[in-house]
Amino acid sequence: MTNLILLGPPGAGKGTQAKRLEQRYRIVQLSTGDMLRAHVRDGSEIGKQAKAMMDRGELVHDNVIVAMISDRIEQPDVERGFILDGFPRTVPQAQALDGLLKWKRRELDRVVLLTVKDDELVERISGRYSCANCGASYHDANMKPKVPGVCDFCGAKDFRRRADDNAETVRERLKNYYGQTAPLLPYYREKGILREIDGMADADTVTAQIIKVIDGK
Ligand code: AP5
Repeated sequence: MTNLILLGPPGAGKGTQAKRLEQRYRIVQLSTGDMLRAHVRDGSEIGKQAKAMMDRGELVHDNVIVAMISDRIEQPDVERGFILDGFPRTVPQAQALDGLLKWKRRELDRVVLLTVKDDELVERISGRYSCANCGASYHDANMKPKVPGVCDFCGAKDFRRRADDNAETVRERLKNYYGQTAPLLPYYREKGILREIDGMADADTVTAQIIKVIDGK
């Protein structure tokens, strides 16, 4: 069983790597961003509350996020292990996760931090699009599907771009990352489970580094 957090600023490659790790280890990606976007598409109460905050690049309230994760972590497909992507994002969320895992008698194996320079993050996010079916991330210039117009992972042919992927919102997301999420680094460093990886490398190199971290745990 592998229980992992992928941590890093917006555009660092968390979603890209989570999809690859899902396939390799047969564990599930739990992306709070994807869950929230599904709520927005469904027009649920959570979606209605979250949409404006997401569009502005602000964080959605901790209580909404923790309730969503605590429901999801109960599902049978999480038994083999999970890759948390985009959660936790604040110290209260990390504390709530500790409580949930303790209650379920599970442990976090590793927290992997992907580091990428701000200029590169903005460039990655502005060129990003993703598979409308499975959510796999692509990029206009540096990460195209192997067969043009066909998702490498699920074969779907529909792609979409996110409403919050614009330069202004990215700046707000970065500000929130440094203000509210970066304090998680000392939190997990103290627990001895944080590992840092150069997210500026190409995606295959980053995957290989993460695998080394997981397999050498
Ligand atoms: P969320 O969906 O989590 O977005 P994010 O953290 O901002 O991260 P991204 O999905 O933008 O980036 P990523 O690291 O996954 O990068 P990707 O792999 O796509 O959150 C969205 C919003 O929801 C938040 O702003 C907030 O409002 C709300 N929210 C979500 N969770 C929350 C929480 N826990 N608490 C409160 N609010 C929450 O890669 C980016 C691009 O780069 C792609 O085009 C990809 O193809 C390319 N790329 C990837 N790797 C490489 C590489 N190595 N080299 C070159 N290009 C690469």
